[in-house]
Amino acid sequence: MTKKLLIVTGGGDCPGLNAVIRGVVKRASSVGGWEVYGSIESFSGIFQDPPELRLLTSETVARIHVQGGTILLTTNKGNPLSLSHVREDGTVETIDRGDELVARIRKAGFEGVISIGGDGSQQISRELSKRGLPIIGVPKTIDNDLEGTDYTFGFQTAVQTATDAIDRLVTTAESHNRVMIVEVMGRGAGWIALHAALSGGAEVCLIPEIPYDIKVVKARIEKRFAAKRGYSIVVVAEGAHPINGSITTIGSAEVGRNVVRLGGVAYALSQQLKDAGLEADIRETVLGHLLRGGSPIAFDRILGTQFGVHAFDLAAAGSFGRLVSYKGTSVTDIPFSDALDRSKLISQDHQLLQTARGIGISFGDREVD
Ligand code: F6P
Repeated sequence: MTKKLLIVTGGGDCPGLNAVIRGVVKRASSVGGWEVYGSIESFSGIFQDPPELRLLTSETVARIHVQGGTILLTTNKGNPLSLSHVREDGTVETIDRGDELVARIRKAGFEGVISIGGDGSQQISRELSKRGLPIIGVPKTIDNDLEGTDYTFGFQTAVQTATDAIDRLVTTAESHNRVMIVEVMGRGAGWIALHAALSGGAEVCLIPEIPYDIKVVKARIEKRFAAKRGYSIVVVAEGAHPINGSITTIGSAEVGRNVVRLGGVAYALSQQLKDAGLEADIRETVLGHLLRGGSPIAFDRILGTQFGVHAFDLAAAGSFGRLVSYKGTSVTDIPFSDALDRSKLISQDHQLLQTARGIGISFGDREVD
């Protein structure tokens, strides 16, 4: 008898999601005996009557590994364990529809679920698994801050996009003797910033893990300006902040999300540098969602495909309650709890941080020679 498998993509999108979907579907089709469906807009599709599902075949997923985004659509406001509902009087209530979701998936005859998403989505997977849903998680985030996996797909594409942007900013910075501040995503972890600073050749890299001293940042930039000529590239992660200062946010948290929107630290930093007396011209570029868009680079297409194939093989073997992971040079799987209890942050002794310091990149915490 044919078995049915459900795929969902949840949370923010990320280059490589479609490669995972294609990997699952093509593997299922080569093994045979399986039908794979996608739920539209994360679990929202399952809550529709009738469910909003899409049958995924080798034909429907052909060439999607090249496309950015997700063909199944996604949302980061669809937590089934705490769905927000705005009452008529404007107040917001949250409802736990987790048990109903598990029942609906069972009723639809699915053998299991593959949930592709970041830490928020995988916390949901873990809870749904505890409530009896046969579920496998596939980790996703451009921020690469998920503990338990060396890499998440999408990260390398984001780094490449940031690097390409810096390469362009360097030529205009040099022509005008300017300081270019480039803001990249990275809420709690500075992985994109660190990699982009290294590959783009920045002088300063400010990350959430290391609060900065504006005087140190100014001094490092000024070293690049001899007789007022020179230029400098500063990469700043959206979650970076000064010592004793706060992170820069855009408005308050949106309904349905429990995290505040970050953004604009490039402008805050620019003002802080001016206030500290930096004389050079400064320009700011916020890369933001550009880093999440577009076609995945080869690494992320391959990693996404590996994750998809491994996730299907776990489902076929009945090994649910696991998170796919990339360790060393191979794809493996781990219990949800090994990945979700804390974020993967850059430690002071991380080799890449040492390499960056070793070539004179300042993290704004200490003077460089
Ligand atoms: O978690 C990934 C991430 O890219 C963060 O770096 C960023 O703060 C967030 O998503 C932005 O999410 P949204 O799409 O809701 O603005």
